[in-house]
Amino acid sequence: MKKKVLEMLICPRCLPEEHDLDPHMEMEEKGDILEGLLSCAHCGREYPIQNGIAFLDPNSPHKTETAPSKYEEAPVLSSYMWSHYGDLLREENVSTAYSDWNDLMGPLSGVAIDAGSAVGRFTFELAQKCDFAIGIDNSLSFIRTARELMLTGEKEIRLKQEGHVTRKTTVTLPESWKISNTEFLIADAQRLPFKSGSFSSLASLNLVDKVPKPIKHLEEMNRVAKPEHAQFLFSDPFSWSEEVTDPENWLGGTLEGDHSGNGVENVMDILSGRKNGLRPRWNIEKNGHVWWKIRTHRNHFELIRSCFVKANR
Ligand SMILES: C[S@@+](CC[C@H](N)C(=O)[O-])C[C@H]1O[C@@H](n2cnc3c(N)ncnc32)[C@H](O)[C@@H]1O
Repeated sequence: MKKKVLEMLICPRCLPEEHDLDPHMEMEEKGDILEGLLSCAHCGREYPIQNGIAFLDPNSPHKTETAPSKYEEAPVLSSYMWSHYGDLLREENVSTAYSDWNDLMGPLSGVAIDAGSAVGRFTFELAQKCDFAIGIDNSLSFIRTARELMLTGEKEIRLKQEGHVTRKTTVTLPESWKISNTEFLIADAQRLPFKSGSFSSLASLNLVDKVPKPIKHLEEMNRVAKPEHAQFLFSDPFSWSEEVTDPENWLGGTLEGDHSGNGVENVMDILSGRKNGLRPRWNIEKNGHVWWKIRTHRNHFELIRSCFVKANR
């Protein structure tokens, strides 16, 4: 983890109180902490840094304790690499989703956050438009892959063809891309390990329906956003699932309750500060949808209508 990120960090376990983390560095190289520990003097919690990866998810402090989620499995990694970088690989049938989302973000000085960054495409896009971009995700295999791309500019992958047959290829990031102004951390999007007001550009793409407390995730994005001169891109297909969380926590798709009805309308209400929504209020600049595609194998693709809301304040 780059040392410059330290000044933004707080203990995610102590939230809503914001307590600094004390760094204990064991191995450091060119401003990058490779091995070490971040500790909270207030609650005593320690967050390891191993092989350059900071583990700041208070739910799973050590990688050995992390129960593998479906995002840790090799076929899922291959699907997401295709989805994020298929255009760079000149693959057939890729979607233009990441450039469509990118077109919605303006250049803005300051730091950007991409919550649920997966293998990092949108974090790299944000890094071209701001001073520094941080991707956070709770999947170790995704963060490890994104960091490899950040450090070397390339990553060899195996795309599933059919059954056990895979095709080897290498994702190479364009040389013109700024990649040294990025960082990727393991963290929980519902308890972000950052000080209030840290970010001027924020993205939450296809994540809100995957977390147990969707409203908590939006509140956290709001907390870490600057109170003014900030832009927020939210997008989601609203594929609510009882496997992720009880319907009472969904922000749409129910027949009764505070967030009944249409998810995108409810998110716009929450961002705009209506119905006990967020403060300071966000102004909705635009909403619409982006067609996002995931490839399972050479003959199987999922086409997803991700509804976006672009807001500013
Ligand atoms: C559907 S994927 C979307 C990935 C990426 N934002 C995109 O649009 O391509 C959801 C991502 O959120 C991550 N995720 C799920 N729950 C999370 C949590 N509580 N905190 C952080 N990341 C989470 C998953 O590991 C996965 O990378």
